[in-house]
Amino acid sequence: MFITFEGIDGSGKSTQARLFSDWLTKKYSNKKILLTREPGGWMGGELLREMVTDGTLKHQWSEAYLFMLDRCEHIAKVIQPALDLNADIVCERYHDSTLAYQVWGRGLPLEVFDTLALESKFPVPDITLFLDIPPALAATRVAIRGNIDAFESEGIMFMSKIREGYLLLAKRSPKRWITIDVSHGTVEEIFEVIIDSILTRGYFND
Ligand code: TYD
Repeated sequence: MFITFEGIDGSGKSTQARLFSDWLTKKYSNKKILLTREPGGWMGGELLREMVTDGTLKHQWSEAYLFMLDRCEHIAKVIQPALDLNADIVCERYHDSTLAYQVWGRGLPLEVFDTLALESKFPVPDITLFLDIPPALAATRVAIRGNIDAFESEGIMFMSKIREGYLLLAKRSPKRWITIDVSHGTVEEIFEVIIDSILTRGYFND
């Protein structure tokens, strides 16, 4: 199974993705479980990650091309080999981040990225967990965490546009997307909701 975690900055994706991959590892001791992320989940990806998050790129399309390049290499070097081994993959951010951030956030055309994903044969996730949070609350969490990158410093309006994008993407593929309200509850409570929704949909019931 290929499971992705999506959400605006400060939605708690890293924590929940890690808890979920730990849960899978415990449940299936004889199966390979891979926890990875974009941008930067492959050798060389960290350099690329720095380029897009330090805010120095000038051309309107540079950022989008870098994320797409990052994804292509991540798929070829990490995701596809794991899928070939029948592993379960938990990936923090994936192509839907490009759709939400570069299309709804930056205003680039959706059709281009839909076409590129098809032509580049990007594997489609089986489940996408969208951790939904009001942008103002997420901004408070990001501010507390510190280490603010170029996207996080764009502000609440930018994050609101991205959230709108995620909500529309969830509507577009309701079978794949599971929206989780993470505006209240402890980390453990939210994790329980995630597991419940996954089991309710008939996944990982064995
Ligand atoms: P992320 O790993 O979520 O940052 P952090 O670990 O600092 O929370 O990703 C860095 C930023 O890149 C994040 O603000 C979202 C953005 N991003 C895009 O704009 N497009 C993409 O395709 C991806 C994968 C990320």
